[in-house]
Amino acid sequence: MPLFSEGWHFLLTLSQTNVQPMNNYISENKDRFLNELLDMLRIPSVSADPKFKQDVLRTAEFVADRLREAGADKVELCETAGYPIVYGEKIIDPNLPTVLVYGHYDVQPADPYELWNSPPFEPVIKDGKIYARGACDDKGQMYMHVKAFEVMMRNNTLPCNVKFMIEGEEEVGSANLGTFVKNNKSKLAADVILISDTGMLGNDTPSITTGLRGMSYMEVEVTGPNRDLHSGLYGGAVANPINILCQMIASLHDEHNRITIPGFYDNVNELSKEERAEMARAPFSLDKYKQALDLSDVHGEEGYTTMERTSIRPTLDVNGIWGGYTGEGAKTVIPSKAFAKISMRLVPDQTSEEITEKFTKHFESIAPGSVKVVVKPHHGGEPVVTPTDSVAYQAAARAYEETFGIKPIPVRSGGSIPIVAMFKSELGLDSVLMGFGLDSDAIHSPNENFGVFNYMKGIETIPLFYKYYAEMSR
Ligand code: BES
Ligand code: MN
Ligand code: MN
Repeated sequence: MPLFSEGWHFLLTLSQTNVQPMNNYISENKDRFLNELLDMLRIPSVSADPKFKQDVLRTAEFVADRLREAGADKVELCETAGYPIVYGEKIIDPNLPTVLVYGHYDVQPADPYELWNSPPFEPVIKDGKIYARGACDDKGQMYMHVKAFEVMMRNNTLPCNVKFMIEGEEEVGSANLGTFVKNNKSKLAADVILISDTGMLGNDTPSITTGLRGMSYMEVEVTGPNRDLHSGLYGGAVANPINILCQMIASLHDEHNRITIPGFYDNVNELSKEERAEMARAPFSLDKYKQALDLSDVHGEEGYTTMERTSIRPTLDVNGIWGGYTGEGAKTVIPSKAFAKISMRLVPDQTSEEITEKFTKHFESIAPGSVKVVVKPHHGGEPVVTPTDSVAYQAAARAYEETFGIKPIPVRSGGSIPIVAMFKSELGLDSVLMGFGLDSDAIHSPNENFGVFNYMKGIETIPLFYKYYAEMSR
């Protein structure tokens, strides 16, 4: 006989008796919760730029200190070949399930600084939003977990075990995290991974991310003549590597905006009509989308909607292209070299290894004899789809439903968090992607921001996930 035969009613009653003290605690401590986040946002933890090394390290210490204060045990900075991983745990009973929280304390570079309305590392709260680099991605969202943990600790409501693993290299490809996970399987033993590093459709349409795209990131170098040349004396007779590179890049898409790399779509999982119809039920306004980006039209693979293009379809984009003379005034030159950084977003069942190889082979093959081409792979990551029928997903859905008053819908995202696929392959664990960001948060862009509402909602919703997850796991 089940312990609670009327499980659902029992849970409702429990939630009514249990949640109020936590919510009181949250509103009493709101200002401090915000100020602590602002303090962290003042540290410019840009992992991509070695100039910020001390700041990145200081942020790791900051997170460790806050975890300790909140009540975590065994808090430590785990050294890696790069930036340290902050670890901490609270094991209340080895027989209870364990949630492993993942997040990152590093941020994207803030460039271009001149496009910020206030300095990126001097956070301000304006119109209910926290403006700073990392406000949403991922300091704000990661810190919700530290505060939610504090809330449960102070109110004696932590219902299961928790481990924290907060890394400092997510924005540069998590190169050292895979090794750490492989070498620390027992330390990281858990039942589910919990992550807030994604978004929702809107504050009135909560959603839970159920998929992430993978990534294959390449750099190409095209060399023409062995030195920069006078474009009058040589122009017309030798290959200009920038001209050639542009032609090569342009040829990577056809007139239907499909990628022309042979075999690129071979392993793409095509969704059924029913699955696509289900996806199309999520609220989306193309007009609003265009308006928000000042676009008169969208652009993408023929035959797919904007939502599909940004989630279930693979893409190829040039992230940067350079070469020749870009300084003041005019210089007449045929440059010796041209470069581009090109990334591809991948979907199941593409793999970064397969796509990296196909890209390399193709790019080399389309180079005319007048230039030399070098293709170099950067980081990669695998796509992932997470289950919606798991206890953990159901618990998350109930938590959102309770705090937002609306059932969240599952949505596949176009972004990438490479470690999520690795959690599955190395630890055998599914992740629950409880994001609270919005598209308007401008992550990676100037004026990144995070709603105070979203930050507080996260802190309120996360303890309910623990509660339902623990109860439903029994
Ligand atoms: N948090 C983002 C990923 C994200 C954002 C996923 C919003 C879904 C919705 C993460 O920090 C990120 O920026 N990832 C990188 C990948 C990485 C390999 C540099 C990305 O997606 O470009
Ligand atoms: Mn992130
Ligand atoms: Mn990011």
